[in-house]
Parts: sequence; C-alpha cells; structure tokens
Amino acid sequence: MLKARKCICDMAEYAVMTSDSSITLRLDMNENTTGCSPRVLAKLKNMDARTLAIYPNRDEGEKLVADSLGISPDELLLTNGADEAIDLLCRVYLEPEDEIIIVVPTFTMYTVFAQIQDAKVVRIPTGPDFSFPTQSVIDAITPRTRIIVICNPNNPTGIPIERSSILQVIEAAPDAAILLDEAYFHFYGQTLMDQVGKLPNLFIARTFSKVYGLAGMRLGLLAGDHEQMSLLRRMASPFNVNAFAIECLAEALADTQFVNNYVAQVCASRKWLHGQLEQLGFKCWPSQTNFLLCRFGPEKANILSALRERGVGLRDRGDCEGCVRISIGTEQEMERLVAELKQVIAQLPAAKQVAR
Ligand SMILES: Cc1ncc(COP(=O)(O)O)c(C=O)c1O
Repeated sequence: MLKARKCICDMAEYAVMTSDSSITLRLDMNENTTGCSPRVLAKLKNMDARTLAIYPNRDEGEKLVADSLGISPDELLLTNGADEAIDLLCRVYLEPEDEIIIVVPTFTMYTVFAQIQDAKVVRIPTGPDFSFPTQSVIDAITPRTRIIVICNPNNPTGIPIERSSILQVIEAAPDAAILLDEAYFHFYGQTLMDQVGKLPNLFIARTFSKVYGLAGMRLGLLAGDHEQMSLLRRMASPFNVNAFAIECLAEALADTQFVNNYVAQVCASRKWLHGQLEQLGFKCWPSQTNFLLCRFGPEKANILSALRERGVGLRDRGDCEGCVRISIGTEQEMERLVAELKQVIAQLPAAKQVAR
C-alpha cells in the first residue's frame, strides 16, 4: 500500500468554514469584510488575454513593493500569501530534528510547515495575559535552534511585542533565522523593516490578505538580508505569484485611502465590540489587529454552535482555554453579532457560569 511520510500522516487537516454556505457572517479568518480597493477591482476587469496567457513575472512587482518598504528588491521575495513565505523559510533552514521555537498560542501554520520538515517544534507558553516571554524564548535556544518565530502583533491574542524584546531575541540567536510575522502590521504601525539587511538573520513576512482585502489573490512577501534571500529565491517557484496579483499590486499599494479607512473602521468597531463583550461579562484582551480574543468560558462550545445555527461563524481557539477569536467587521456586522450573541446567551441555562 502506498504510504505517505509519517510526519504527514500524523498531521491533522486545517479546518476552514469557507465551504459552509449557511454561515452568512463569517468572522473566523480575519479577512477584510469590506472587500478590496475599487481600484484593484477596476484593474482586474481590464486585464487582457495576453497577460493571462504568459507566465507572470515578479520583478516589477518586487521593485514596487521594495520601494514602498524602503528596502532593495534583492531583499524581497513576493510569495503566494505569507503562508508560502513561512513554508519557504522552513524548507530552507530546517533539517529533520532541527528546532523551531514558537510562542503559543499563535498562528497554526508555523507548526504545519515545520512538521512537514520533520522538525521539532519547541512551544514556549506566553507569559501573564499572553505577554511575550522574552527570557523564556532566549533560554530555549539550543545549537539545534534554526528558526524562532515572533508574530507581532500575535494571532490569536492581538497583543503586540516590544521592539526591544524582539531585538534581544535576534541578538541571542545569531545562528537562527528570526521570522518576524507582521501580518497585522497596519493595525499596529510598528515594524522592524528598518533593520532588514542590517541584521542578517532577520526575516519579515507580510500579507495582502488583511488590510488590502486580497486574501483570495494569495499575495504575501518575505523581506530579509539579500544573501539569505538569494537562497530562498532558489527554492521558490519562479511563478509562485499569479498574474492577477502582480497586475493589481500597484493599485493596491497606491490606494492608501482604502487602507487607512479600513484601519480606522476596524479600530472603531473593535473598541465598540470590546465594550459590548465586556458588558456581557466576557473578558477580551486589548488587540492591535482586526480581531479580538474573547473568553466565552465553560459555555463556549454551546455558544459557538448556537451562533453557528444563526449563521455566525467565529473561530474556536482550543489552545486558549474557553476562548474564541472574533474577526472585526463593519459596525453593522458587529451589531448583528452582538444581537445574536445576546439572544444565544438568554437561551443558555448556564449563562451565569460564563467566566469574566
Ligand atoms: C499571523 C499570520 N501570518 C500569516 C498568515 C497567512 O497569510 P496569507 O493569507 O498571506 O497566507 C495569517 C493569516 O491569517 C496570519 O494570521
């Protein structure tokens, strides 16, 4: 019988709600619920047959993005979503049994891609209130540590990490690649992009799936020291980024008003939702992203399934006790969520047990 590698057989499938058509308010993937820039849509509608007939060329897009980030094109690789950036890093640096340090809870795909390389995933728990455990991460570094992942702000907590902590980790692990995942950068505004090329082991991943509203386009990037990036480039398919993404990149970057409006809307909706959830007795953590981590407590499973029956999908975070992650949508979407939640709670016999 045909057998796949053991590390693949041992993996669980990544479950997404996208295929469930009964969910009419999907708040589980941190997507931009307002869509994308109309300028991107206009560009898409005007694409010609020839652009689609030929293989896509990343070069011009890389120059554009590199300029916008203040780095050189040889320090940048456009990727098929930030997911591919993470995958490439794992494939380039991890031998079987090598160690990758992640701080949990965090984004699931780091573990998936590391496991595919048969690497050992070293999980360091966050500190009080999901703070970044700088010293514990440093203490966990061994000669086999090849990658350390720092997700800033972290998913699913939304909590940012101090620049000085990140720099301490980078300095403590000169022989490891530091993957700084800035998928939610625009909601936070602080970055280490200015250190790309200066710190040879620093890599920064970003995505167009969040503020730009282009999750379906699959576009991300990895920035890093040019010598290391040339190794990553060998690994990447020359056509990893599709023609739609490359064609639309310039419009997405240029429409700063779209991005700024979306960020402002998220911040306002997030503040309102946070207040509403706390009034209902649910603890939330202060987020600098387009999602909120919220503790539903012992009734979580019942609340989630009742919301689902009403067409509302939230992300169950089994790795944070009693918690769910809620993507921030428009004011109207958040109002609907709160209205449905109130009805669900009213029907729960054990509503009083909900943890604060
Ligand atoms: C922290 C983090 N990194 C990376 C990604 C992957 O982004 P992409 O859609 O560009 O693959 C996500 C997506 O949710 C994320 O939350």
